[in-house]
Amino acid sequence: MEVVILPSPDEVCGRAARIVARLVREKSRAVLGLCTGETPKPVYAELIRLHRDEGLDFSQVTTFNLDEYVGLDAQHPASYRRYMAEHFFDHVRVARAHVPDGGANDIAAACRDYEEAIVRAGGIDLQLLGIGADGHIAFNEPSSSLGSRTRVKTLTERTLALLQARGESVPQHVITMGIGTILDARRCVLLAFGESKASAIARMVEGPLTAMVPASALQLHPRATVLVDETAASKLELADYYREVERNKPSWQRED
Ligand code: GLP
Repeated sequence: MEVVILPSPDEVCGRAARIVARLVREKSRAVLGLCTGETPKPVYAELIRLHRDEGLDFSQVTTFNLDEYVGLDAQHPASYRRYMAEHFFDHVRVARAHVPDGGANDIAAACRDYEEAIVRAGGIDLQLLGIGADGHIAFNEPSSSLGSRTRVKTLTERTLALLQARGESVPQHVITMGIGTILDARRCVLLAFGESKASAIARMVEGPLTAMVPASALQLHPRATVLVDETAASKLELADYYREVERNKPSWQRED
């Protein structure tokens, strides 16, 4: 796993936005995997700025979001479809935007269709990810199968309490890409900042591969990049080594 420790959340998000922008410039028909939550908001803001000020063109890009609540319609303030409209799609035109259909009558069929749509699009080139304080990615809660595909999950009390503390009253059931789905992406970029994420980051990067820390599955991914600020990195045993690797990267490998 490539671990990049940056001085501030702004730099974490700036780096993530540059990685996305470079891909879209190189591959106009790129397929992006997108995430929600507080963490990526500045990434979307920067991509919107690059679109507006520098003409970064998303018009041929296809997107797939990681997850959605079951039973919330697209206009519901807590729905991820609404989040994406507000933070990205209302500002930047993409060719096709996919968010799991939490309102489907046949949820199992909607999950299968989602997997098929990803395959039809040629697979995900770059998957953006955040991480839960318990180490979940997307809505794959601890104990999720490491080979899971898009399906329904039940949120843990801990995740529900965290979401409710932010004033979001949300359903307990969600549709989420599986860990197997996420691992199929050609590149994964996970971002995290703040002390509340430090323990999850250490367990993901340096702990054992385990379903109890779903993000640890990224240890199996051939191209996973973890972008963290100093506080989220504060529990990493090999932090100095990761800094050294970043400092001494050959120019062709640099993304700063
Ligand atoms: C939710 C989302 C995840 C996200 C996580 C952390 O569980 N489904 O995709 O990574 O929250 O969110 P935040 O970035 O707000 O801490």
